[in-house]
Amino acid sequence: MSLLISLPESMGPRALCSALLDLEPEMKIVTGHENVQNPDEVEFAVVWNHPEGLLLNYPNLKAISSYGHGADGLLADSKLPEGIPLVRLTNETMAEWMSEYLLAVVLLQRRQLLQHAENPNFIEWGIAARHPGNQLSILGLGYLGKAAAKVFLKNGFEVAGWSRTPKQVEGVSSFSGNDGLTEMLKSTDYLVNLLPLTTETTDLLNTETLSKLKRGAYLINVGRGQTLVEEDLIPLLDDGQLSGACLDVFRTEPLAEEHPFRKHKKILITPHNSSSTPADSVAPQILENYKRAVSGRQLLNQVDLTHGY
Ligand code: GLV
Repeated sequence: MSLLISLPESMGPRALCSALLDLEPEMKIVTGHENVQNPDEVEFAVVWNHPEGLLLNYPNLKAISSYGHGADGLLADSKLPEGIPLVRLTNETMAEWMSEYLLAVVLLQRRQLLQHAENPNFIEWGIAARHPGNQLSILGLGYLGKAAAKVFLKNGFEVAGWSRTPKQVEGVSSFSGNDGLTEMLKSTDYLVNLLPLTTETTDLLNTETLSKLKRGAYLINVGRGQTLVEEDLIPLLDDGQLSGACLDVFRTEPLAEEHPFRKHKKILITPHNSSSTPADSVAPQILENYKRAVSGRQLLNQVDLTHGY
């Protein structure tokens, strides 16, 4: 019986294989679905951007793991085997990297360092350039959102969070529902999107919602590209409603070379790398879920199909 790793080269399938073998040298692992010789043997699959319908090939599959925090890539496959549980990863290192990225972007913006890089004379010599706003609001108070909230609280920000259901997070003002969103946005200086992609979060950030932000607020999207209505962003930036945006995720990735976001001075683009999946760090969780799946035990981080994450 075996574990299948089906990941794009860029995600390091062999690094995951060796991290798992370091933990369990006897384990049978197939790296690359094209290398599966006996589909009956595959009991657990770790996938990212897998071909649609691939997972129907393994009649003895017990569980499928996303090789990331999000499960939307898995759920986008309309030909998933029925009744097979899906899991995703939560990991401290992934959360640390995400929080570090967010803090770096917010501080760059707060001290206007990119403007200095572009034009060292943009402000008078000796005058501190510092955005006065201090409220950072996080859409999505799950594992990553909570970790980021802690980091911003430690750095002196006022932190608010919005989630599907109200959450109790120490030091964080918690909001939920449509009215809660409006309430939170109106005092927000920095808005961070960490929401999973679901039918409810698709297109949530649009002209109407982003116009509710404090004028001159800054947007950071590290959740999913589909949450932002892309064509609404540039007019909001040009009119000054938003002072800038940092985008790590896009509706279509990689972002097309000719996409207007690439040329806009107020948009900072990164290539979906605000965080990453570190093989050594996630291998124990994958191994644990593999063991639980083959012995029919409750899995860690199982995807709730009703809510889509
Ligand atoms: C990355 O986008 C992830 O879901 O881990």
